[in-house]
Amino acid sequence: MKGIILAGGTGTRLHPITIGTSKQLLPVGDKPMIYYPLSVLMLAGIRDILTITNPSDTPRFQALLGDGSHLGLRITYAEQNAPRGIADAILIGAEHIGDGPVALVLGDNIFHGNNFSETLTENVGNVRGCVLFGYPVNDPQRYGVGETDANGALVSIEEKPLRPRSNRAITGLYLYDNDVVDIVKNLRPSARGELEITDVNHVYMERGRARLVDLGRGFAWLDTGTPESLLQAGQYVRTLEEHQGVRISCIEEIALRMGFINADACHRLGSRMAASDYGKYVMAVASELE
Ligand code: G1P
Repeated sequence: MKGIILAGGTGTRLHPITIGTSKQLLPVGDKPMIYYPLSVLMLAGIRDILTITNPSDTPRFQALLGDGSHLGLRITYAEQNAPRGIADAILIGAEHIGDGPVALVLGDNIFHGNNFSETLTENVGNVRGCVLFGYPVNDPQRYGVGETDANGALVSIEEKPLRPRSNRAITGLYLYDNDVVDIVKNLRPSARGELEITDVNHVYMERGRARLVDLGRGFAWLDTGTPESLLQAGQYVRTLEEHQGVRISCIEEIALRMGFINADACHRLGSRMAASDYGKYVMAVASELE
């Protein structure tokens, strides 16, 4: 399965922070925001990843992640030069997707929880139609909102409804079979002029091919769209990290644990950042797993 990270957008709710830089490069705890969605794809075993950015930001993402080979990945870049919607990522990435399935993750979504890797692997290996991930929130009006029947099949999905039919937000991780490319090609822009991901999911739902997997209340799905939520996400990450002595979404550690790189390579990556606690942690993990 191929992966796509959508790291474009204008981040207007974070102005002036995002006037001079990309939202997905801002720090969440001790690492750039994009490490979190990248970790999601890596934990799903996905190694061929297209990163979609605003044209002016591409060099910064390239400086950060390179071609991915140091992590045992293949990372490529494409540009979205206008805010044409989340579903536009599928058009931009059509060649990258080829004739197989794809996992699309939004560059500002943070997922953390027990057994997430297992949840991902189970679903990645079994994409017929689309698989969405739902999470209970107290302000569903802000998100795509889904409702399911007793078998987990999606029966309604709405984007930012005034009167939500459930409290289940559709998170920014979407698994699609290859039909998604044709579906997006036939999609019309919404009233705000964007190709809406919720409209894509609606087509799958009408075909009886949309499944919603509940992430549940023991899980954390965090928003980073406003100064408050960005700060809260950073505090959440640091609180757990300091308390448990492990790091969340440390891409070097994940690459090692997934078998994408060996302990030597991991240690070298850490040693290049030896002045920071993050770098020291990467070296320690590599030594421990040698
Ligand atoms: C987008 C999607 C929405 C989804 C959310 C998840 O909204 O349109 O369906 O629930 O991402 O982060 P946005 O944050 O772009 O307003």
